[in-house]
Amino acid sequence: MQDQLSGELHFMNVTTAPPEYWDTHYEQQNLVYEEQSIPFRELFDRFMPRGGDCFEVGCYPGPFSIYLAKRFGFRVNGIDTTPFVSTHLPAHLREQNVEVGELIQGDFFTYDAERTFDVVCSFGFIEHFKDYKHAIERHLNLLSDDGTLVISTPNFRNIQYFLHRWLDAENLERHVLAAMSLREWRKQLESAGLKIIWQGYYRTADFWWESSETTVQLERKRLMVRRALQAIDRRISWPNRWLSPYMITFAKRVSDDDSRPRKTC
Ligand SMILES: C[S@@+](CC[C@H](N)C(=O)[O-])C[C@H]1O[C@@H](n2cnc3c(N)ncnc32)[C@H](O)[C@@H]1O
Repeated sequence: MQDQLSGELHFMNVTTAPPEYWDTHYEQQNLVYEEQSIPFRELFDRFMPRGGDCFEVGCYPGPFSIYLAKRFGFRVNGIDTTPFVSTHLPAHLREQNVEVGELIQGDFFTYDAERTFDVVCSFGFIEHFKDYKHAIERHLNLLSDDGTLVISTPNFRNIQYFLHRWLDAENLERHVLAAMSLREWRKQLESAGLKIIWQGYYRTADFWWESSETTVQLERKRLMVRRALQAIDRRISWPNRWLSPYMITFAKRVSDDDSRPRKTC
């Protein structure tokens, strides 16, 4: 447990990217929704259920929730520590004609929803916590019987690790590499009684960075690496552990399995 008070929030899981980091990052961003830049769309088409309530953990700035709501008819719910989730996100979602449920500014690790959701998802959340398994467990507490869980992280292991260490070291520090393991996710989810619908790496190769450390030379190298990997990506479709930029798992709670653990934390 991290013994840290930030505003009124008490953070219950040690994070590699504290709220101040995200708030500063978001202050510099305009809220723009670009459907074409959302990854996993073809996988969503295959594995997402239709309709009901969706809950996104770490939901700001909301592109995934917007896409899922527009495409599959979900009502959007979510939580994020950033105050922008209350001041900016509701209007942004409504501008996109998305039905809004509950948007909470708060710490996911102390949040008690007192209800469950048809879809619980996060995109780039669990890998910011040392105890990422606890983060996954908290996702499960929110999932309804027959609910669908979607967890995704970037892939910073293997060749990606060396690229990030070389060109994106500051960002690498904000990520817990142990959390980027499809095998560990599968083990944990199956032992909690979920059925894995699909899991895998996403796209063949790409490189992204998020760093305040910038020089002309460094930027040139980053762009060069990105161009080279994107060129490979355009020619070859081979999701892999070495260079794929993302990984994702879709899992479903099997309602007739009475052995699944109930709320544990
Ligand atoms: C990588 S970002 C996710 C971005 C977003 N899902 C997207 O791509 O559209 C991680 C998010 O988790 C939020 N976050 C970090 N710690 C949190 C916590 N303990 N409880 C709730 N949200 C948290 C951050 O403010 C940030 O918005």
